[in-house]
Amino acid sequence: MKIKYPQSFPIAIIPTPLQKIKYENKNFLIKRDDFTGSLLSGNKVRKLEFLLKNAKKKRAEYIFTCGGEQSNHARATLLAAKKYGFKVKLFLWGKDSVNAKGNLFLDKFFGADISFLNKENYSDVNNIMQEEAETLIKKGKKVYVIPEGGSNAIGIWGYIKFIDELNKQINLKQIDGIYSASGSGGTAAGLLVGASLFKLPLKIYAVNVLYSKEELRKKIINSAEGCIYEFDLSCKLDENNLVIVDGFSKEGYKNINKNKLKLIKSFGEQTGILLDPAYTGKGFTAYYENILLKRKGMKVIFVHTGGMFGSFAKSKEYLSV
Ligand SMILES: Cc1ncc(COP(=O)(O)O)c(C=O)c1O
Repeated sequence: MKIKYPQSFPIAIIPTPLQKIKYENKNFLIKRDDFTGSLLSGNKVRKLEFLLKNAKKKRAEYIFTCGGEQSNHARATLLAAKKYGFKVKLFLWGKDSVNAKGNLFLDKFFGADISFLNKENYSDVNNIMQEEAETLIKKGKKVYVIPEGGSNAIGIWGYIKFIDELNKQINLKQIDGIYSASGSGGTAAGLLVGASLFKLPLKIYAVNVLYSKEELRKKIINSAEGCIYEFDLSCKLDENNLVIVDGFSKEGYKNINKNKLKLIKSFGEQTGILLDPAYTGKGFTAYYENILLKRKGMKVIFVHTGGMFGSFAKSKEYLSV
């Protein structure tokens, strides 16, 4: 099936490998989206291919985006946008530190202009970004604001294309579902639209790490429906194919509990794969408990969405298990 994709920049190193993994004598498939690049790596890179091209077409000079202080999306946006000649401003929920680690270290090292916001102000980040953009617009500048996680009708094309890519690596008609960690919901939204476009009855499992179950479902459906509407796609969403997997981030988005750290460590020692504390560590714990232990016969692919640098910001916790 031929899909007419919006224009994009070639930023991600794709196709990423689809690997057969053995962990505790359990075999499963993992799609390595942590391999989309080195510093410019993870799931956000696929979205940025479409978003930054769109920004260039609109002749933007500035890119604004937001996230937590360990935001993988913010780090990837900074690096990719600078490469394409944009000026970048990041609006981060957290505090500055002379001893910055992980993603924040990279943001600072690569010369990011950062506005730090506390939790309360961050809840209004879209308005804050918009107001600051207006100030520049009044001076005749063009600003392109990318929402949290790059999750909008354009960004999610990254994960529509992912379905196309994965379907060439394995016949997805023989697969029951795709499992990944979900924050702003764009990855799951793209997977849902992609599965629908390619007429694949895949279950899309989204492990919520940031928002409530209801909020996340709404975000995913809104992004997916928004994309179908804006690009006039000939497909219809089956909302039953979206499964929100709840209860795996009770310790909070910025934390990770001891049991999950133990699994991350044991998985890492057996496979050489590092899972991050905010997303993939929680996503994999859910996959391990719900699929590998309980639904052994199911063919569900786990997507490693990246986030490695977040682990370096929690080295003390990682080494304490
Ligand atoms: C490593 C990693 N995995 C998963 C996600 C979640 O992706 P989405 O925001 O598209 O739901 C993110 C988002 O920041 C991420 O950085």
